[in-house]
Amino acid sequence: GHPFFAWKDGQLHAESLRVEDLAREHGTPLFVYSKAAMLAALGAYQRGFAGRRARVCYAMKANSSLAILQLFKEAGCGFDIVSGGELERVLAVGGKPADVIFSGVGKTRAEMARALEAGIGCFNVESEAELEVLSEVAAAHGRKAPVSIRVNPNVDAKTHPYISTGLKGNKFGIAHERTLAAYRRAAELPGLQVVGIDCHIGSQITDSSPYLDAMDRVLDLVEAVEKAGIPLRHIDFGGGLGIDYQGVLPPAADQLWAQLLRKLDERGFGQRELMIEPGRSLVGNAAICVTEVLYLKPGEQKNFCIVDAAMNDLPRPAMYEAYHGILPVRRREGAGTAYDVVGPVCESGDWIGRNRELDVVQGDLLAIMSAGAYCMSMSSNYNTRPRAAEVLVDGGKAHLIREREPVADLMRGERLVR
Ligand code: LLP
Repeated sequence: GHPFFAWKDGQLHAESLRVEDLAREHGTPLFVYSKAAMLAALGAYQRGFAGRRARVCYAMKANSSLAILQLFKEAGCGFDIVSGGELERVLAVGGKPADVIFSGVGKTRAEMARALEAGIGCFNVESEAELEVLSEVAAAHGRKAPVSIRVNPNVDAKTHPYISTGLKGNKFGIAHERTLAAYRRAAELPGLQVVGIDCHIGSQITDSSPYLDAMDRVLDLVEAVEKAGIPLRHIDFGGGLGIDYQGVLPPAADQLWAQLLRKLDERGFGQRELMIEPGRSLVGNAAICVTEVLYLKPGEQKNFCIVDAAMNDLPRPAMYEAYHGILPVRRREGAGTAYDVVGPVCESGDWIGRNRELDVVQGDLLAIMSAGAYCMSMSSNYNTRPRAAEVLVDGGKAHLIREREPVADLMRGERLVR
């Protein structure tokens, strides 16, 4: 499942470069991205939407490194942001504010004001209280905020509970039954202009049925809202499509959209302006994290393989018990031993993979697979560990896109008591 990271002559390559060479030059832990992999992932959506009025707004929370944003901007994407900080990143790479949509349950007044001033395309509003505040802020700035209401379609995305967002007991969106009332209110508020409707049902979804269910529920609402005299220019179906972490194959983006577009056409919405907010499916399988084996520690119950990447670099296993493949950078022939691959952080939760068959010696390099989404963007400085470096590979060329963080930067802004 990783065509852009493959072995040639026993050596793992990123596109046409040897991963070992990249690690030697830039050190470890090191994130290595494949540009071709990201463009291929985006290409699947673009093929799926050929001939339609559709915009891909990359959910940049998945990976907000500037060069990654630059790549998606140049490939024609807009951005789904969830904070004022993310907006500044889009502006820093020259992204067009009109192509930005702003999601999130807790936008502050300051974030709203800055986004209005920049002129973003749409606020995806998640509560009735937020509608009131946004209208106030916009009116105070003499503007009308373009809004979409995020509806909670109450469908089960059948994913990990921490990343499932479309069920009733969830903090996200406005309940299906409240949606029409919320649109009526939005239409009468002086600072708002209704432009669309949106939903997002969860993440790492590997099945098309929750999408089809959600679409039916959302289209029912579009009909009801428009019957009430409130036109909706666009429909935004959120993100959430999963990737292959462990051999469970989600539908390809173009195949999923072929199904969804058939339903849209059947229900007479095929000409409507469409939007989506994919994150993981654009970047997840476009990177590996290269790490060095520091120590092997055989034990009575378990063997530990201690590596220099940790939960601060890749928090997904610790947070969600997520699986990431772990592969040797240089292939050996011998039989493997079962190891728990763990990092140096002082927590038992600091593991990267459990019970993995590996044939390794101290000093070997390992590649942690599927590390493009929600790894660097969720990284921390716990244990005063600097953030890893990042390299973007484009064919036979490697670009350093993030320097390894200097430790001095970790203390910047701190003050001793005088
Ligand atoms: N739109 C909204 C409103 C979202 O909340 C999210 C993700 C997305 C789009 C993008 O979803 P994606 O296409 O990436 O599934 N940290 C977790 C995932 C959290 C997802 C949060 N929201 C993980 O590492 O699995």
